[in-house]
Amino acid sequence: MTTNVESEIENPYISEPCRILRKVDLAEGVRFFQIRPLNENSTIATNYSPGQFVMISVAGVGEAPFSISSSPTRPGTLELGIRNVGRITEAIFQLKEKDIMFVRGPYGNNFNISGMENNDLMVVAGGIGLIPLRSVLFFSLDNRELFKRLIFLYGARTPDERLFKNELVELKQRGDVECHFSVDKDPSGKWTEKVGVVTTLFGDIKDIDPDKTSVVICGPPVMYMYVIRELLKLKIPKNQIQMTLERRMKCGIGKCGHCAVDELYTCRDGPVFTYWDVIHFRELI
Ligand SMILES: Cc1cc2nc3c(=O)[nH]c(=O)nc-3n(C[C@H](O)[C@H](O)[C@H](O)COP(=O)(O)OP(=O)(O)OC[C@H]3O[C@@H](n4cnc5c(N)ncnc54)[C@H](O)[C@@H]3O)c2cc1C
Ligand code: FES
Repeated sequence: MTTNVESEIENPYISEPCRILRKVDLAEGVRFFQIRPLNENSTIATNYSPGQFVMISVAGVGEAPFSISSSPTRPGTLELGIRNVGRITEAIFQLKEKDIMFVRGPYGNNFNISGMENNDLMVVAGGIGLIPLRSVLFFSLDNRELFKRLIFLYGARTPDERLFKNELVELKQRGDVECHFSVDKDPSGKWTEKVGVVTTLFGDIKDIDPDKTSVVICGPPVMYMYVIRELLKLKIPKNQIQMTLERRMKCGIGKCGHCAVDELYTCRDGPVFTYWDVIHFRELI
């Protein structure tokens, strides 16, 4: 017989209360949240890997998945970037610093970091796709010796829509990350870097050793096919290209079938897939 306490521990849908430490606007309609579990024995902000996500619930409104944007190499808090698109995200936007946010996870698989070690690492982000890839970037900066070249391509619609603008400046100043930035258009007229979609940045990358290059991608659905085309031109093996693919989710833990694509549950088998894993799922990319 299970006691109430035991059955609560076993219930995978129980969320943990976390305090919002910091809330900052990253761009119009996109907000950064830094949260810390109330329970100091909680492992939610320590035991996770880049690529995983959490489910955030708002009482009376619902629950939705969000990528973890922080890195386990900087443990203790979780960082999230949330775009306000509907009911749940609007309710999350109403939360203030010091309020409680209810979170469960971490869920899903993660980027295969050990498989990328000793390789050049190329990070290709589009728009809010930078949110999960920031976790990979921080992880690789904190373990810089594990990777050879670190090549970072980031495209956004306009200069204002770029996320984590201060961090982008710092990344460029470090000197050990090859940063290439683009915007689709520049209404301000002050942008000094490339104008064009993110794939235009591939022309600036020199001396790629395809067998020793690992790539991680996240961005709007339309971006994937064009980026993959460029990577294949560079002869990068399909199983060295990893990307996060998002589907609508409900349970987040492989129980409800909401996120299924054929035999794959994107919450459990993903959200990270290699191009080779999903090459036959035209619908996924
Ligand atoms: C694994 C995973 C990680 C995610 N990480 C982030 C993140 O880091 N930051 C972030 O802002 N969002 C992220 N999302 C998307 C986020 O979960 C949705 O934006 C959220 O569920 C919207 O809920 P809502 O009630 O506010 O909007 P709704 O009212 O449910 O939807 C508003 C609009 O957004 C569309 N939409 C909702 N969910 C999705 C989805 N999964 N894919 C495509 N379109 C969708 C709807 O079709 C509708 O047009 C992630 C999704 C997944 C599956
Ligand atoms: S969201 Fe329920 S099975 Fe994936």
